Amino acid sequence: MKRRSLIFFSLFSLGVVALYFLFVELYMPELRPVPPPKEEVFDIALISEEEFVAFGERIFTGKGSCRLCHKGLGGRAPSLDEIFFVAEDRLAETAYKGRARTATEYILESMLEPGLYVVEGYGKTEQGRVVSPMPRVTSGLVNLNPLEIRAVVAYLQRSSGVEVSIKPSLVMPGFAMEKDRDEDRGGK
Ligand code: HEC
Repeated sequence: MKRRSLIFFSLFSLGVVALYFLFVELYMPELRPVPPPKEEVFDIALISEEEFVAFGERIFTGKGSCRLCHKGLGGRAPSLDEIFFVAEDRLAETAYKGRARTATEYILESMLEPGLYVVEGYGKTEQGRVVSPMPRVTSGLVNLNPLEIRAVVAYLQRSSGVEVSIKPSLVMPGFAMEKDRDEDRGGK
């Protein structure tokens, strides 16, 4: 009798563990509308690097919803803990067909056009094509502006342990985000 309940208990525990892994494997969080956050206003000429990185971290964990999918190891999206170095590896892959030439550009490209290069094993198939489950950060629900996008990149450079080379006012030539292009035309 005792042995039977032990076997039953072991099988039950195994079942629970298996169900948990199945859940983690199949669960892809959905973006849900959140109340529009208060827009932070900066004088970008005055903002320090520390403030810029901290702003990026707030966007990453808050408005940008990045943590929803990028949870570190084991999530349904790649870990971004060392994305700067991962980016350099991606660029060296023969399968890489995007336009980025540097790690920073790769990170920007991943945010602006996630579909241009889909990390192996993380795509989903739609009508026979592999597409990225990640929405553009400029799209509907997340809707980051160029300053917020650069701040996220600054935060990802810092968390990768490299120099923060992206600046609040930097417009990357040939890599401009839609809104930047308009600012460019008007500004100069
Ligand atoms: C709905 C889930 C989801 C959200 C939200 C999301 N991502 Fe992603 N992201 C993914 C998936 C899945 C991939 C891998 C597929 C691909 O390459 O597009 C990915 C890929 C990336 C990559 C390339 C990673 C690599 O290893 O090459 C970067 C950089 C990135 N995301 C940044 C972000 C940032 C920054 C945010 C927030 C502004 C964000 N993501 C929000 C799901 C998400």
